[in-house]
Order: sequence, then C-alpha cells, then structure tokens
Amino acid sequence: MDASVSGLTQRLAEADQSHLLQFWSELSPEEQANLTLDLQGMDFKEINGFFKNAMEVSSSSKHEKMDARMEPVPREVLGSVTRDRESLKEWEQTGLHHISQRKVAVLLLAGGQGTRLGVSYPKGMYDVGLPSHKTLFQIQAERIVKLQQLAEQKHKIKCCIPWYIMTSGRTMESTKDFFSRHDYFGLDKSNIIFFQQGMLPAMDYNGKIILESKGKLSMAPDGNGGLYRALGNQGIMDDMERRGIQFIHVYCVDNILVKVADPAFVGFCVQKGADCGAKVVEKTNPTEAVGVVCKVDGHYQVVEYSEITLATAEKRSSDGRLMFNAGNVANHFFSFSFLRDVVQKYEPRLQHHVAQKKIPFVDSQGHLIKPDKPNGIKMEKFVFDIFQFAKKFVVYEVLREDEFSPLKNADSQDGKDTPTTAKHALMSLHHRWVLNAGGHFIDENGRRVPAIPSLKDGTDLPIKCEVSPLVSYGGEGLEELVKGREFHPTLTIDEHGVHELVKNGV
Ligand code: UTP
Repeated sequence: MDASVSGLTQRLAEADQSHLLQFWSELSPEEQANLTLDLQGMDFKEINGFFKNAMEVSSSSKHEKMDARMEPVPREVLGSVTRDRESLKEWEQTGLHHISQRKVAVLLLAGGQGTRLGVSYPKGMYDVGLPSHKTLFQIQAERIVKLQQLAEQKHKIKCCIPWYIMTSGRTMESTKDFFSRHDYFGLDKSNIIFFQQGMLPAMDYNGKIILESKGKLSMAPDGNGGLYRALGNQGIMDDMERRGIQFIHVYCVDNILVKVADPAFVGFCVQKGADCGAKVVEKTNPTEAVGVVCKVDGHYQVVEYSEITLATAEKRSSDGRLMFNAGNVANHFFSFSFLRDVVQKYEPRLQHHVAQKKIPFVDSQGHLIKPDKPNGIKMEKFVFDIFQFAKKFVVYEVLREDEFSPLKNADSQDGKDTPTTAKHALMSLHHRWVLNAGGHFIDENGRRVPAIPSLKDGTDLPIKCEVSPLVSYGGEGLEELVKGREFHPTLTIDEHGVHELVKNGV
C-alpha cells in the first residue's frame, strides 16, 4: 500500500468503515485505483452524521402521527383551474409576459434511477408507444419550443426559456449524449444546462457502508432534494443570476402530461407574490397513497399517507371534498431569491429521509447476496422539504386528467402509472382537445364515435390521437385544423399537418 492508501486506511478506521478494504489484496491494480478514487472523494464523518440523524428522525417519527398538528390549505392561498376560471386568462398572460422577458427558467429533476420501470437508460429517454414514438425528453423539449413561440408572438420579442436538467452520476453521460444526438430537439444548445446531483452510499442498519462488489461501494443519488446542494456546488445559481432569471418551474421527468413552465401557474404565483408554490391535484380517495400539502404547526409541508390515521385521511369539508386533498405531484414554483436562500442558508438544515431497501451486497466471504427483505437504507432528501422555509407559500390546483400521469412502473395487467397508462392519458387529453376544437371522430363504418367511448369488452381504450407540442401547448390553435371535420383514428397532428393513419393502411 502506498502512502495515500495508508492515509485512507486511517480515515476509514476512524470512521469505523475499515471493512471497505477487506478484499483489497484480491483486487486488480485497476480495481484498487478505482476504489481508492471513490473513497478519497468521500467525507466519512459527514456520511456517518447523515446516517445518525436520518435514523434518529426516522425512528422518532415512526410512532408519532401528524393528525393533531395538521391544518388544510386555506382558501386564500389556493388557486384552482376549476374554481377560479375567471382569473385563468389573466394568470396566463402574466406568465407569458415574464417568459417573454426571459425571467422564467425550468428545472427538470431527472437524476432518479427508475428502478421500478426497470430500464437501464434514463427515464426521459423512454418511448411509451405514442403514434409518434416521441420520448419524454422530446415531448418536454417541444413544449418549451412552443411556449417560447407563443410568448414571442404575443410580445413581439425574441425570448428563451433556459432548461436546467439535473442528472446523476449514473444518468449524466447518456442524457447529454441523447440530447446531442437529437440536436437538442430544436432548442438552442446554450440554453440547456446539465448538472449533476450528489450520490450517497447505501448503509446497513449498523451504519456500515455496503459493498456491492469486492471493490465497489453501493451508491445511489441523494434524492430529488439533492437538487439544492447541487445547485450551489455546480454554479447553477450563478448561471441563473447571469441570465436574469427570477422565477423557476421545477418538475419531474416522469409526468407525461407536465405543462413545462406553465404560464398560468407561473402567473398565479407571481401575482400572489409567492416565493414558493406547489401544483397539486385533488386527492379524492382517502386511501390513495399520495402525500398531501398542508400546514403542520403553522408551516407548509407534505404529509405522507403513512403519517396520518385513516380517520384524518377520511375527514371531509363542508363541500364534501376530502379535507386534506391537496395531492402533491412534485411540481413547484420558486422565486430566484427564495431558491438562493434555500441553497445558501436552509439546505444544510434538511435531514435525510430513510428508505429501507433490499440492497445487493458482498458478505464477509466475498459472496454476492441478493436479499429478499430490506437489509439497509438509502438516504434521500426530497424537493418539497423546503416548503417550511417559504414566507409566502401558495397552492395551485389542477385537473389530474389534464396534467398528471407519471411513469413509474413497467407494464403489467391492471398496472398503475405504467407506459400504457401514460400513453392513454396523453391520447385521451388530445382527443378531448380535438373535440373541444370542433373536430369529430368516426369509426371504420363511417359512424361518429361518441365523445365518451363505450367500454368495449371491458377495455377502456382511448381514441388514438396525438397532437404534437409543436402545434399546440395546451389545446390552443386547433380550430383551424379540425373544426367541423371528421377523422378516422389514428389521428396525428404535427407541424407538417393533419394525418389519419387508418388500420391496415396509411
Ligand atoms: P421517484 O422518486 O419516482 O424515483 O422520482 P425514480 O428514480 O423515478 O424511480 P424509482 O423510485 O427508482 O423507481 C421522482 C422524480 O424525482 C427524480 C426522478 O428522476 C423523477 O423525476 N429524482 C429522484 C431525482 O432527480 N433524483 C433522485 O435522487 C431521485
């Protein structure tokens, strides 16, 4: 062992992590060099501290339910696309104005591992099987292109919406390469800024870092709340400042319906003078496992379903809706100054959450074991952990069928949040856009298909219809293309025109 390794040995001994070198003599020189590099970059004191705090918080919160401390979101901080219809246009205009002034940026959380979906590449590269076969990244990029055009047309001024994309050690290279191969989907390369979140080792319940092979630690991204640390240490806040960004829309890669930089949401938050806002969908089923935005001891936060009793989950307001119904969809607005304060002041105060996982490991004999029950933890921060620091927090309620359909799981019979459900959600939204714009669908016998398709053979298949984001951002501008016309599905509308792709033919 050379001097640098013996220094490492000592640091590991001090941190009670000496087992990480137990197979040292069996490693090739290259494996030794890689392991040394990984270990040298780690602050074991800090990692042990994260573990201790996370375990303490997790065990103290396990038994304590939140119910008595919770209050629902008050009406005065709530905007709703259904209940405040008269204000929607104005919010949208405000948002478009700020976009045209180049004050709005979007920030994509794409550092997750997508374990449930089970593909080896980043989730944004996934094709759910739309007629166009566009990936999630392409759909989002084209929505940005379109929104820039809408703002430019309205305000007669060239504008751009910078797109900050957070990846992780595992997704960075493939994501960048994918964008480059697709020529940035029509966006200006200089306005897409990739940055990388941190990784943390998986630990066993005794605080020992887990080896996934004899010479490699088991590492995972530090949660989507790793965003805040990454924003600081990758110089992203400085970049935003240089560009004069004042408002940031943050969203997750896996929501196929996401309205990237949604002008109405941005406009609502700006008009309310908010420093932090959360887009939510109405939770209608008390037992749905979704976190709800509410106040706890006077501060906003997301309370998970597991943290409340069924009685509280079932409580209803006088209008009959669930009292705690603001379902969190990890879709947020931040003012630049709030985000800067979070990065500079508040982030270190956030504790990691503990996720118990089945983590493959090598045992002391060097055998690879794949456990069938959880054997350790991953530590994660969440993007919404910072709500508590907001001085003016607002909530914006949208319709789930219009704006939220996440891709989480691989396809399976009756699966939830799968490629099929995501594809259907998008086609069903676009079907409604065409109907609302005065178009009609006809079946193979030339008969009009009813607007609400009947359940055939127990299957609820949507009409095949896809509108390119390059044609319409949110359903606008379709009348001139479809009004009074009849279409055979599959209908696709893109920048080249309106196409019908009839079964067995073109
Ligand atoms: P999820 O928590 O659903 O995780 O992420 P995931 O990685 O997509 O999927 P699983 O749990 O491994 O199956 C919600 C959003 O947060 C991002 C994801 O990319 C997704 O957009 N995320 C998650 C990060 O950016 N970093 C992380 O460390 C974790």
